[in-house]
Amino acid sequence: MIMNYKEAYQNYLQQFESVLQAYCVSEPKLCEKLSNAMQYSLTAGGKRLRPVIAIATCQAFGGDINRILSGALALEMVHTYSLIHDDLPSMDNDDFRRGKPTNHKVFGEATAILAGDALLNNAYEILFATNNLLQGKILSSAAGHLGMVGGQSLDLESEGKEISPEKLNLIHTNKTGKLLSAAFLMGEAAAKGYTTRKVARLGQTVGMLFQITDDLLDVTGTFENLGKSVGKDSESCKLTAVRVYGLENAKKLTRE
Ligand code: IPE
Ligand code: IPE
Ligand code: MG
Ligand code: MG
Ligand code: MG
Repeated sequence: MIMNYKEAYQNYLQQFESVLQAYCVSEPKLCEKLSNAMQYSLTAGGKRLRPVIAIATCQAFGGDINRILSGALALEMVHTYSLIHDDLPSMDNDDFRRGKPTNHKVFGEATAILAGDALLNNAYEILFATNNLLQGKILSSAAGHLGMVGGQSLDLESEGKEISPEKLNLIHTNKTGKLLSAAFLMGEAAAKGYTTRKVARLGQTVGMLFQITDDLLDVTGTFENLGKSVGKDSESCKLTAVRVYGLENAKKLTRE
């Protein structure tokens, strides 16, 4: 049966949500507050773009979807941890995420930090437990100091500094491009047992498109549509695509 894009997305999304649900139900608890904080952000919604891409890529290469489901869960955990920390007062200081108050607003800053730490560790525990070493390697290098965390550090360091397209490119590539690229590469790895540069480039291109769009939406979007506060980037003098290229040229860039 040939599905259109929306049907295909819903199909992958449902498979992912049932894996996530099963995980949340079965996970034991040590500290009730910490577990609640982890589940709060994990189940707050979100587009689930990265797991959907990972599952879709695995299938596109003829792989068995069961080989990517734990990777998809791990990927969404790392992404969710990155959002909890991104919203902290010492980082972007945001009050809303996925249409709800941010993790630290509900559970306090210390628990939000620990919930992020725990999600990060859980992600790799799941990948080790299911023997998915290559997927773990892809995810950990995309998320670390030469990837998302490094990009986040550059993002913060660049607030209010010079307007440079090269710096913007470096920030976008690392803070967003690497994890999105990991989604494609983990899907490819699950299907084939190896990855290719072509798929890495596809992931990076989608990643750039995604972050430029996120920068645009901070100017043109609404709280109702995005589930997060808008206008925050200019308030914090972030180095964004809109600040570097202007609104119209940034839009043009996404079309290119
Ligand atoms: C937000 O990611 C962070 C960025 C990289 C811009 P998403 O827009 O994918 O957030 P959710 O998962 O749908 O909440
Ligand atoms: C965040 O970028 C990228 C991450 C690695 C979390 P932003 O700071 O622009 O994401 P939003 O706009 O808060 O979702
Ligand atoms: Mg940020
Ligand atoms: Mg932010
Ligand atoms: Mg943003």
